[in-house]
Amino acid sequence: MQQRPVLCVDCHGSNALGKPDKPGIPNLSSAIHGKHARAGIDDGTMGGTCYACHPGPRTKCLRGAMAQAGKTCYSCHGNLTAVANPNRRPWLDEPRCGACHDAAHAENSGTLYRFSKGHKGIYCQACHGSQHAVAPSREENDNIQAILLQGHAGTINTCMVCHTGNPDRSEGPHRKGSSGDGDD
Ligand code: HEC
Ligand code: HEC
Ligand code: HEC
Ligand code: HEC
Ligand code: HEC
Ligand code: HEC
Repeated sequence: MQQRPVLCVDCHGSNALGKPDKPGIPNLSSAIHGKHARAGIDDGTMGGTCYACHPGPRTKCLRGAMAQAGKTCYSCHGNLTAVANPNRRPWLDEPRCGACHDAAHAENSGTLYRFSKGHKGIYCQACHGSQHAVAPSREENDNIQAILLQGHAGTINTCMVCHTGNPDRSEGPHRKGSSGDGDD
């Protein structure tokens, strides 16, 4: 109480802030999620538990294509107990597109979605949007860029958004997926 405000990660490690784990003290993610899992607040409803703390009703995290196909936080991240697993590396061990989609539509191996690239070095997010707003989104604002560029919402799938000539269709995004990590 003598040293407020307290920086939680001075004691609880966090990869987000580059703070190392300390022996005997759970990392911040494990401490927070584990405490609330043990308190029994995991109600298993769509986003309910997670929205208690994470951006929710206003920012509408569950707005991308997968949410519209019925997926919830739990489908990709598991429940509070799973997120609190002390063997996870918070911020580094995150859900992967490749867990549900095939190898030709997966992240680069050992790399988060946000850092993965496909089709001649273009970030996955450039064509698909960010992890919680994979196109097409139910939020109109997320779809503006795609509509301006190609006239319709959804994945950037119109070659002429970037190409001037008419490129070889057999070499478009994901078409040479033989390496198995989606980066062709
Ligand atoms: C001075 C070091 C220190 C700081 C700063 C600190 N903690 Fe802790 N925290 C601990 C220790 C030690 C434990 C107990 C670990 C154990 O016994 O497993 C703990 C346990 C916890 C737990 C688990 C409690 C339970 O019953 O399971 C939570 C949640 C937690 N801390 C959250 C926070 C938050 C949030 C902050 C910042 C506001 C914070 N801590 C700051 C040292 C610290
Ligand atoms: C009691 C509040 C609380 C609840 C409930 C909660 N979170 Fe968190 N969550 C946090 C906090 C605080 C952090 C930031 C931890 C840090 O800075 O390392 C966090 C970070 C995360 C992270 C990033 C760090 C990591 O562990 O990879 C993920 C993913 C996450 N939460 C998923 C979830 C999911 C999924 C649910 C619902 C099952 C959920 N959270 C429920 C408070 C909460
Ligand atoms: C928990 C399983 C799961 C995960 C993880 C997942 N997806 Fe999906 N994805 C689905 C399902 C289910 C559909 C709907 C399939 C259908 O309707 O045929 C889908 C559909 C899609 C579509 C087609 C959308 C459309 O309507 O045109 C794209 C693009 C997509 N996912 C990209 C991604 C990306 C990028 C990631 C990683 C950030 C990802 N997915 C992670 C299950 C998942
Ligand atoms: C379709 C799968 C999917 C669903 C549904 C999903 N997430 Fe995620 N989430 C991801 C992926 C993939 C990442 C990691 C992205 C990266 O860093 O490459 C992630 C990362 C996170 C992070 C770390 C910070 C960030 O934004 O990257 C938090 C926190 C988080 N999710 C919370 C949630 C919560 C809360 C929900 C439900 C409201 C949710 N997620 C629903 C796939 C999903
Ligand atoms: C240049 C644009 C572009 C880039 C970059 C790109 N994609 Fe795609 N992606 C597409 C197009 C177009 C489709 C739809 C055609 C298809 O399924 O091959 C698609 C489809 C998908 C699907 C849905 C497959 C299904 O089953 O419906 C997933 C998942 C996906 N991409 C993941 C990724 C990942 C992961 C990366 C990064 C490693 C990536 N994409 C990079 C354009 C792109
Ligand atoms: C988001 C931008 C983007 C989209 C959309 C896109 N491409 Fe590309 N494509 C590139 C870039 C960048 C290169 C690399 C150009 C270079 O190396 O000079 C490339 C290269 C290629 C090449 C190699 C030969 C060349 O022209 O350089 C082919 C073939 C190709 N793309 C086909 C396609 C097809 C087919 C589609 C539509 C289904 C498509 N691309 C959509 C950005 C894109």
